[in-house]
Amino acid sequence: MALPVVDTEYLKEIDKARRNLRALIASRNCAPIMLRLAWHDAGTYDAKTKTGGPNGSIRNEEEYNHGSNSGLKKAIDWCQEVKSKHPKITYADLYQLAGVVAVEVTGGPTIAFVPGRKDSNVCPKEGRLPDAKQGAPHLKDIFYRMGLSDKDIVALSGGHTLGRAHPERSGFDGPWTKEPLKFDNSYFVELLEGESEGLLQLPTDKALLDDPKFRHYVELYAKDEDAFFRDYAESHKKLSELGFTPS
Ligand code: HEM
Repeated sequence: MALPVVDTEYLKEIDKARRNLRALIASRNCAPIMLRLAWHDAGTYDAKTKTGGPNGSIRNEEEYNHGSNSGLKKAIDWCQEVKSKHPKITYADLYQLAGVVAVEVTGGPTIAFVPGRKDSNVCPKEGRLPDAKQGAPHLKDIFYRMGLSDKDIVALSGGHTLGRAHPERSGFDGPWTKEPLKFDNSYFVELLEGESEGLLQLPTDKALLDDPKFRHYVELYAKDEDAFFRDYAESHKKLSELGFTPS
């Protein structure tokens, strides 16, 4: 499919869709799952073969039925409501815009959004997203494959400041922080404090404490929220633009 033409009209539609997404996220309290949708569309990227990535392919049944995408159909359907009002906007742009808006409206940093992503119907094979039951070497395998760094891994894991795990979706249960609808650095503070009643730490979250390079950033972000916001915004932008060269 050809690149969408990002002209003045497209930019206007993006602006309207951004407002629509803010309203939708506020009325359904669904910032966490919108962020998860954006991440799962983008996080399949393979830098070597230049396949996967933020290309809207997660809207296809084949891909949203992958085990790791359990529960995301709801977010796809909500985004469809916005797509119907702004059909010019690609799914790829819409999902990434939803991720950026989710972070913004919950109090997180402003993430620069550059439109123009192409949609694809080619779904990556299952298994490209991280497995929560594994450790630091697995996280490196998965994120290095995308072309991302140790710093990106830790900063982006801070996305778990929002939302919770659902037993019927992942088998895990509970939120990572006491205020799962507020984007702040509490994920790192809780992680350093260790297990606490009612809060979740996945094996892949705890792995951030094992590797010295990871741990350096965990400690930095726990004590310096500005540093977290600055690095998160940068890493999120990278994630949202994997394999995409803005025109
Ligand atoms: C939820 C795994 C990275 C954002 C979850 C859940 C798991 C998981 C198991 C629970 C799903 C459910 O039961 O509903 C992982 C692993 C990661 C990772 C293994 C590897 C580092 C990320 C990243 C982001 C992110 C990079 C975003 C930048 C979220 C959000 C939720 C979530 C917002 C909550 C969704 C909701 O409340 O419905 N993740 N994740 N995760 N993840 Fe991650």
